Amino acid sequence: MSLMPPPLAILAELTHRCPLRCPYCSNPVALIRSGEELSTGEWVDLLRQAAALGVLQVHLSGGEPTARKDLEEIVAVARELGIYTNLITSAVLLDRARVEALAAVGLDHVQISFQDSEAAAADRIGGHAGGHEKKRAVAAWVRAASLPLTVNLVVHRQNLDHLGAMIEMAAAMDARRIEVAHVQYYGWGLANRAALMPTREQVAAADVVVAEARARLEGRAVIDYVVPDYYARRPKPCMGGWGRQFLTVTPAGKVLPCHAADSIPGLVFDSIRERPLADIWEHSEAFRRFRGTDWMAEPCRSCDRREIDWGGCRCQAFALAGDAAATDPACGLSPRHAEIAALAEQDSRAGEAEFLYRSFATVEAARARRAGPPSDRERREAAATPGPG
Ligand code: SF4
Ligand code: FES
Repeated sequence: MSLMPPPLAILAELTHRCPLRCPYCSNPVALIRSGEELSTGEWVDLLRQAAALGVLQVHLSGGEPTARKDLEEIVAVARELGIYTNLITSAVLLDRARVEALAAVGLDHVQISFQDSEAAAADRIGGHAGGHEKKRAVAAWVRAASLPLTVNLVVHRQNLDHLGAMIEMAAAMDARRIEVAHVQYYGWGLANRAALMPTREQVAAADVVVAEARARLEGRAVIDYVVPDYYARRPKPCMGGWGRQFLTVTPAGKVLPCHAADSIPGLVFDSIRERPLADIWEHSEAFRRFRGTDWMAEPCRSCDRREIDWGGCRCQAFALAGDAAATDPACGLSPRHAEIAALAEQDSRAGEAEFLYRSFATVEAARARRAGPPSDRERREAAATPGPG
């Protein structure tokens, strides 16, 4: 008999293949190649185990999940098992027939990301020519198929001044939910921090834009918005607490407490190829390491918010403090908080810093460069790259 409540949702990273090259991608810098991906049968088996465990939702993500030809089959099985399916997509590989096919097999919800309100800027940020107009077309096909649509707007210094227009664009597409998400600075986002960090003035202006849009769109669309970590006074309850509600399955079947957990050295993650999902959820060492509050040191240990934000984000604590068990430096009570405020200030003034685009080729180049003396950028890249194993 299990003592742990089951996970609410699984983030299924079906593949790391993706036609876009966003410089803030949440995938690890070390991408998984197609030959290592779980087969259709393995994903189906995972879904059956998830349903038996009591999982209610699966978020089908990537990379770009529509790069998998078996997506319809995976959605159909989830539907048959009574699991709610949310497709998180860049949309550029979809055509109208496939949107209708996914609706027909029971897909529940679609979430499309947009990089900007203007095509040229959006295509530059996503590193994919023609992507923006294709996304707009797919959003219309999604609504025509009566699928609910969420528009995901990842914001940073290079598009934050267009936030008002981006929200209007999403509302005009009949999105019922608009997620305004600041870039998270681990993985590719950390490698590109100097190119992406917004200024304090931009963040303050964005707060006003969101408040006004919420009032204007009340009853038509809900806007989700969280203050960016580097400018926050208290951290977000990342993943609702480590190993409490969510788990991520990588394209190769590794089961993680969050999508970036592989960036923390010293944790051993189990594979769905070797251990049953229920056993991993309940007993895996990596899940137990930061579950609950026993692992906390001061100031979290005696803080009255410890079961509200669960100490913030473990991946960010490692990325910034070098210790995944430290208080998230986004918290004003962390001894490192002043350092991240200074980092934000410095990076936000970096001007026209170029992007390090996400791609398999970039990963190979980074590996090759590590043989020589590292530049500042390479050091940052290496810090964001999980070591072997
Ligand atoms: Fe949260 Fe820890 Fe900061 Fe308290 S000290 S607010 S528990 S991160
Ligand atoms: Fe890993 Fe926050 S992203 S704990």
